[in-house]
Formats: sequence, structure tokens, C-alpha cells
Amino acid sequence: MSDDSRPSPPAGQPGTSVAAVIPAAGRGVRLGPGAPKALRTLGGTPMLVHAVRAMAASRAVSLVVVVAPPDGAAEVKSLLDAHALPGGTPGGSWGRTDFLVVPGGESRQESVRLGLEALPPGHDIVLVHDAARPLVPVDTVDAVIEAVREGAPAVVPALPLADTVKQVEPAAAPGEPEPVVATPDRALLRAVQTPQGFDRATLVRAHATVTDNVTDDASMVEQLGERVVAVPGHEEAFKVTRPLDLVLAEAVLARRRLNDGY
Ligand code: C5P
Repeated sequence: MSDDSRPSPPAGQPGTSVAAVIPAAGRGVRLGPGAPKALRTLGGTPMLVHAVRAMAASRAVSLVVVVAPPDGAAEVKSLLDAHALPGGTPGGSWGRTDFLVVPGGESRQESVRLGLEALPPGHDIVLVHDAARPLVPVDTVDAVIEAVREGAPAVVPALPLADTVKQVEPAAAPGEPEPVVATPDRALLRAVQTPQGFDRATLVRAHATVTDNVTDDASMVEQLGERVVAVPGHEEAFKVTRPLDLVLAEAVLARRRLNDGY
């Protein structure tokens, strides 16, 4: 449900409605035992709530579809209701941004597809954002949206790499030495983050066509032969994967709270 008092989007075609799909159905095994990753807390608030807020922080985003663990949709819905801002529509709204919760699938890809299927008509731009990237700044979200509005069918936020990268022949058993086969030129490589932004029809076609297992949505659009562009990402959009990432995320939150009362 749109809000007529919402200011016009900052760039591109005003009025193009943006929805965000947040896959949050992973167990997060690399983080160690405990609750599903998206429900772990950062600064006392579940990671998923931070991720939804990060999308709702963009004035352009009018709907967030959260893809919950298959057996946890009701729990996720009450969690979001409990953290929703007053003034929204009954049945699921975050200030000016509505949200929906749907059950996810076996793989990230399937979870995103289920989220896309739940999208009502009228949202021509779709962001896909990992719940595991709770601290992405709104400027990065807006930069992705702007590049889609300017005509790119798929947009990824990306950063240069700090490390040199080697291609190896993977070892048969963990811990065994692995032969190095190549060193790609680091200057040509980027580490890719989310939210990734898409022309909705292109993303739907990619999910209907590509069956290979992929780790991000943009690579499915690449397989269609469509243009994918990278815009500058942000170091605070890192993915919380391992226990050390939780320490870093808590530190980023503490710094924000100190600096701007976030
Ligand atoms: O496993 P990985 O860290 O790549 O997961 C990225 C995102 O995809 C996470 O937000 C996770 O919750 C989500 N995911 C999902 N459904 C799955 C597996 C992962 O929504 N079956």
C-alpha cells in the first residue's frame, strides 16, 4: 500500500516502485550452533530486523518480502510485528514500508524464487538482499536502485579485493595442500555484496530459466546474456558468516550508536 505523503524517489523515473526480497531461510551453520542465523541478535536486535530496517530506510522501497525458514514463518512474522514501527497498515507494515513473510526453500536460490512468486504486481524494480548483511548503509541501497532506474537490468554493489586471489585444484581431503593453477589479476576482480538490484521481469526470467546452482542472483542474469553492472559497495555491507563477523558487526553498531544515535 503506497503512501501519498512519501517524497518522490531521488533519481531516475519517479514513482517506479521498488520491492526488496530478503532470503533469511539459511541455518548459518558456519556461525556455530544456535538459532537460525537471521534470528541471532546484534546489539540486542535480530539480524533480520536490522536487514529489513536497512531496506525500509530507502524512501524508494515500499515492500519487503522476507523469506523465512520453512518451519519458522509464523515466528518470523511475530518477530517483525514486534519490531515494526507504529503508523503502518494493519497486517504488516514498517512505517511507510509494508512487509510480507513467506516460507523459504532448500537453497538460497529456491528461497529467492519463492519470495519473487509472492510479490504482488506493481513493483518493477526488485532488490535481493541477504539477511546476513544487516548493516548495509542506505546510500548503497539507493545507489543500486538508481543504477537500475538508469537502465541496467541487473546491478551489484562491489568492492575491490584486499587479498591476492589464487585458483587452486581443491584438495580431496580438508587441510591437504592444494596445487595453485592460476593467479587472476586482482585489479579486475571485485567482491560482490547485496542488495543486488534488478528489472523485475529480467530477474523472474532468470529464475525461470537458469537451473545451475549459483551463489548470487546477478550470475543468473549473466547466464541470460543480459548486462550486469557493478556500483561501489560499502565495507559495512559485509556478510555475517563466521563468529568473528559477529564481533565486527557489534563494533560497527556501537560506533554508529556513538556517532549518530542509530
Ligand atoms: O549461506 P549464505 O550465507 O550464502 O546465505 C545467504 C543468504 O541466503 C542468507 O541470508 C540465508 O539466510 C539465505 N538462505 C535462504 N535459504 C536457504 C539458504 C540460505 O534464504 N535455503
